[in-house]
Amino acid sequence: MPQVLQPFYTLHSRLCSLVVDCRAQVPEILYWGARLATATDAAMLALLATRQEAQACMPKEAPIALSPELGAGFQGNAGIQVHRDGRQWATRTQIESAQQTGSSELVVISRCAATAIKVAHKLVLDYQSDVLAATTELTNTGDSRLWVEQCNAPTIPLPAHYDKILGFAGRWAMEFQRQPVDLFMGSYLRENRSGRTSHDAFPGVIVHPCDTSEASGPAYGLHLGWSGNHRVRVEQQFVGRAYAQMGELLFPGELCLGTNQSYCSPVLYAASTENGLSALSQCFHGYVAAHLTDERIVDRARPVHFNTWEATYFDLSEEKLHRLVDAAAQIGVERFVLDDGWFKNRRSERAGLGDWWVDKTLFAEGLAPLAEHLLAKGMEFGLWLEPEMVNPDSDLYRAHPDWVLHANPAPVLLARNQLVLDLSRPEVQDYLFQRVDTLLAEYPITYLKWDMNRTISQPGDYLGRAAGHRQTLALYQLMARIRSAHPRVEIESCASGGGRADFGILAYSDRIWVSDSNDALDRLRIQNGFSVFFPARLMGAHVGPRDCHATGRNLSMAMRAGVALFGHMGIEANLLTMDVAEKTELTAAVALHKQHRELIHQGDLVRLDSAHHENAFGVIARDRKTALFSYALLDSPRTSAPGRLRMRGLDADARYRIECIWPRQPWGYSRSILDVIDSAIITGDALENAGLQLPIMHPQSLLIFYISAV
Ligand code: DGJ
Repeated sequence: MPQVLQPFYTLHSRLCSLVVDCRAQVPEILYWGARLATATDAAMLALLATRQEAQACMPKEAPIALSPELGAGFQGNAGIQVHRDGRQWATRTQIESAQQTGSSELVVISRCAATAIKVAHKLVLDYQSDVLAATTELTNTGDSRLWVEQCNAPTIPLPAHYDKILGFAGRWAMEFQRQPVDLFMGSYLRENRSGRTSHDAFPGVIVHPCDTSEASGPAYGLHLGWSGNHRVRVEQQFVGRAYAQMGELLFPGELCLGTNQSYCSPVLYAASTENGLSALSQCFHGYVAAHLTDERIVDRARPVHFNTWEATYFDLSEEKLHRLVDAAAQIGVERFVLDDGWFKNRRSERAGLGDWWVDKTLFAEGLAPLAEHLLAKGMEFGLWLEPEMVNPDSDLYRAHPDWVLHANPAPVLLARNQLVLDLSRPEVQDYLFQRVDTLLAEYPITYLKWDMNRTISQPGDYLGRAAGHRQTLALYQLMARIRSAHPRVEIESCASGGGRADFGILAYSDRIWVSDSNDALDRLRIQNGFSVFFPARLMGAHVGPRDCHATGRNLSMAMRAGVALFGHMGIEANLLTMDVAEKTELTAAVALHKQHRELIHQGDLVRLDSAHHENAFGVIARDRKTALFSYALLDSPRTSAPGRLRMRGLDADARYRIECIWPRQPWGYSRSILDVIDSAIITGDALENAGLQLPIMHPQSLLIFYISAV
């Protein structure tokens, strides 16, 4: 039965409400924020939102609709930008129907007679996590081809008092760096053309008023779940309105829809809070746990890894690997991951990619002896692959030089001596599936580290068309096919570290390799940024060698292990050359991680606002009975004695025992508070409001406190 269109639709979650205004025949967010009182109705909000005609402006402003429209005179970035060979470009839709399901889901269907398109906006507000998942789907209802230049996920108007943008920038080995910017008149625009999520332009942004902190204040957090090219925009218009918009970035001519063909934008994941940035992260973490974590692993303790890369690089031998297996087992490792270098002719970065056969000169009997050895030691077997890539020096390339992406007639550009396979070709998909399938059938592999070590700088297919969009979809399709054929196998998403970390890839992967930097100091900053959207449970964090390969810095084992144990912990250092004292320390850290991993992986993360030379955070169990707090001193402090650690998130009235559990021998040349407070009982209220006086520490060291209710 056709539904009568309502002027307003209201969705509610645990702490939020979202009101969509349909009075102007286009859906527009009228309100999104703290849950509204029952006595508040949408008409009141509409009344409050009444705007006056300003001088030298259009008498009636074009709405910041879910897809703002060129045909309505919108002067920002239109949500949908299409044309038919240069004509029919002025979109002006009319709502055809709106269907609300319960208080969590709304689908609005609109049609545009001028451009002959149908648009479906879908908004789903998750009750428990308060995360909104939103998409825009476009269908060509005309009888000629429709060129699509942009089809952004739903546009989000910003509250007028939000004047700060927190973006995330970075580079290889320094991903997820916070980049705060004042909201300004004009567009804050981050564009990614790397063909993967990217190290430098993470598709996420936070917008908030200037006094919001980790602990308090309102904020919107927005993230696009897409592993390819994207555009993130926050724009303040001269009329005083501002909006945030995200979508896929399409190359010229990349997307053309035939009659009745559709395109759906990547999912926009967005959260709104009144309680600070840590609360915003808890929304995203809760959503990932409930909706983007595969049920196979949701209740499975994350096994401690040993990864061979920084232990061996390309200098592999069976004998060395067997000895590493023995050493890893002694330290408490639960999964052994054989990284790059195991396949045919792969003696360096220069050759082998594409030839996914075990190198018989290294492993005369294949990988079976290694697999048997590590299984006998109680470990799982993981294997590194980089399926999307090919070295020109490989049998695969010699047989199929036409299988690579390129931008003819420009010469192909090598990076790390490799080229990118055109995954949208079915024969490429079949070849890769068949190779991976065979390896997984032949060996007891339960984990794949799926790497991707160059950008897609020339994303053209064999027909000369831009293919970035299809390449990303084809990657998802290949991963899905492998997952469905081998449901027991977990997959890690890696792209030279954290170059492919987003909620899109989480549908096909179970862990993210966050960075190639295992430098614990840099890691604290990287993991801090990563934690804004992603939970610790899927954050690959490894203890690297004393001399960090990315920075050359030397850090103590206490520091390296103390940082890695707050993620999905692993080890990536040569255990055969590590001295006994370090190994003993590392063994203790692995045991500590195992003892507390349930808390680390299931608890609520609270980042503490800290000075530039410090990093502090806590993880608090849902029942508030236990918590871990980490305090790291990154640099020399300006004062002789440091300040206080004010722990948040505890139950104010509960009495807690405090224990400093890491490092095992904290440094100090005079009696410190650590001797005095050991096992002291203090209330949550005092720990938060008075805080714990910190002891004198060396720079580049950290302390971990375990707090338990008595
Ligand atoms: C880049 C990854 O991030 C590293 O961990 C390692 O797997 C290398 N590739 C291997 O080539």
